[in-house]
Amino acid sequence: MPDKVKVRIDGEVIPATTGQTILEVARANDKYIPALCYMEGLTAVGSCRLCMVEVQGVARLLPACTTPVQEGLSVSTTSPQLQSYRKMALELLFAERNHICAVCVSSGHCELQSLAQEHGVTYVRYPYNFPRLTVDTTHPRFVLDHNRCILCSRCVRACAEIEGAHVWDISGRGIQSRLVSELSRPWGEATTCTSCGKCVQACPTGAMAEKGWAVEEMTKDTGKVSHLSSMRETR
Ligand code: FES
Repeated sequence: MPDKVKVRIDGEVIPATTGQTILEVARANDKYIPALCYMEGLTAVGSCRLCMVEVQGVARLLPACTTPVQEGLSVSTTSPQLQSYRKMALELLFAERNHICAVCVSSGHCELQSLAQEHGVTYVRYPYNFPRLTVDTTHPRFVLDHNRCILCSRCVRACAEIEGAHVWDISGRGIQSRLVSELSRPWGEATTCTSCGKCVQACPTGAMAEKGWAVEEMTKDTGKVSHLSSMRETR
């Protein structure tokens, strides 16, 4: 039986239960913390660092999506330092690959793009890497554009944890990291892929999309993946 605890978020005392994370408690109480790699219903991995918060008595910033609450925890979700840190994290994502929003199927429906707008990212202060990355068009229904992938691993987790197929993984380290399907086979040749499209729906950017859509046309319903997960838990 989980214990009831009280935490303070931006000065407001909020009841919570042990086992919940700061992000879960914040969202359940209509408190906004930006997040990219987190997706309700999937295991939290804390990789994008967008959800960093300040916790009283802790010298460093902590990711809200993987930090469990405990009695007396006092959290600040917004401050000039957090704003500037989150802005920097977003700029680094833009600098790492080739996110050209003007020619993206997901422009206008992209979580990275809307977070950038929200954080006032009007330009990037860091040199662009401009890596030469491929686009995998081998699947009959879907396309994977590595140029737009932010390695959030939501697709990996949706495929493994909800569909149970585990087609996707992240290979390599650091700047060489790449999303790979089935031991680096082209997506269209991956025998474990059920073509369910959960990975596409979970993707926050235009990295994964359905074929046939033009610029700005691809919309996604991330709620579907979360809904499937919650229905399984209910059962
Ligand atoms: Fe918490 Fe990405 S949402 S680290």
